[in-house]
Amino acid sequence: MDKLLIQGGTPLSGEVSISGAKNAALPILCASLLCAEPVRFSNVPHLNDISTMLRLIGQMGVEVTMDGNDGLIVSSRGLNNPTAPYDMVKTMRASILVLGPLLARCGEAKVSLPGGCAIGARPVDQHIKGLQAMGAEIHVEHGYVLAKASRLKGARIVTDMVTVTGTENLMMAATLADGETIIENAAREPEIVDLANCLTAMGARISGAGTDRIRIQGVERLHGATHAIMPDRIETGTYLCAAAVTGGQVRLTNTSADYLDSVIQKLREAGCAVVAESDAIVLRAPPRLKAVSIRTEPYPAFPTDMQAQFMAINCVAEGAAVIRETIFENRFMHAVELIRLGADIRIDASNALVTGVPRLDGATVMATDLRASASLVIAGLVAQGDTLIERIYHLDRGYERIEEKLTRLGASVRRVR
Ligand code: EPZ
Repeated sequence: MDKLLIQGGTPLSGEVSISGAKNAALPILCASLLCAEPVRFSNVPHLNDISTMLRLIGQMGVEVTMDGNDGLIVSSRGLNNPTAPYDMVKTMRASILVLGPLLARCGEAKVSLPGGCAIGARPVDQHIKGLQAMGAEIHVEHGYVLAKASRLKGARIVTDMVTVTGTENLMMAATLADGETIIENAAREPEIVDLANCLTAMGARISGAGTDRIRIQGVERLHGATHAIMPDRIETGTYLCAAAVTGGQVRLTNTSADYLDSVIQKLREAGCAVVAESDAIVLRAPPRLKAVSIRTEPYPAFPTDMQAQFMAINCVAEGAAVIRETIFENRFMHAVELIRLGADIRIDASNALVTGVPRLDGATVMATDLRASASLVIAGLVAQGDTLIERIYHLDRGYERIEEKLTRLGASVRRVR
């Protein structure tokens, strides 16, 4: 298994380009299942999760062709196998996002339950409940969701909690339903707006995406379209944290500060100067950050996908910070690894007290999930000496060419087999 070897202590400087958003591209690729005509995508990130999704829809009879170096053309004309098998779903939970589109397009779907992952049980009961409200007959047998619906009917759905992929699944299913669907308590993440924009380009009738009430007027069929994937706000935030903690100055291009207000506000509180340009962000860090407390909540509040990265920068900040994780029940696994680097972190249920130490010392650490891996990279960049991060297949799921981009910013990092 690959490992990442980082020699810490160098302030990051220079410019890198941000890739397309993983968490927009995944649902948007599933949206192409909704119509027989080809859908053309650009700014698709080259990530393991994207490859997994392409393999998953490919085995359904969907044709995927490259279109330039970050473009794809997806044609679902030949869709003939509305099934998502366990051996593919178990490696990527977002596979559940095929359920709504398959049910809407084919009238049936057999999708493996994703099962839990490192950060939590990750149930999909809201996805199922919402589709049942739209008239689908669904039962779960032998670890599979078996769903049937001659034609989904519009319904008013109130989800028990804010769920990103739950909102996405229901919104996609509703585009071909008979009548109007209203999703109350909808997630407001920017990736949902990007998905809605793509669906609208395909002929769907959606209003309210980005608010907590989304209205979808079902139509008979959708048609092909062209869509550019939005920039990855979490990749952006991750590089901002890497520059902030190393006392660096960077310019991130092909991205936007629009969707990072809560993160940029916290970086400014920590002492960074952050300037937003039309399609770039410039950050200049102080010699040492001030500790900043955070509480994760659904968008537009502070994103859970940036919690691990901020725990890392708080490890060497001046003062102490409380990190409260309200979205997932087990998203502090990076803490024990950061402690191996010399961090002072005390966990109490969903709260972590991080007391800044003068420095971290390099060590061998193990990645446990995607964003935990990112926090170990950030800590390694500022630790004295060498940090060796194991199991970086987690990292490759969500960060395109990370060692190349970090090297461009002056970091001493290389992948060792
Ligand atoms: C999406 O996961 C993202 N993944 C996650 O990013 C992100 O952390 C999460 O949203 C929260 O922002 C993708 O978009 C592919 P949820 P999702 O449904 O949709 C509970 C990353 O690092 N819940 O919003 O699976 C759930 O257990 C990944 O890129 C139910 O109980 O998250 C959690 O506690 C990690 N039943 C809360 O809701 C359901 O049916 C929010 O989960 C659905 C969710």
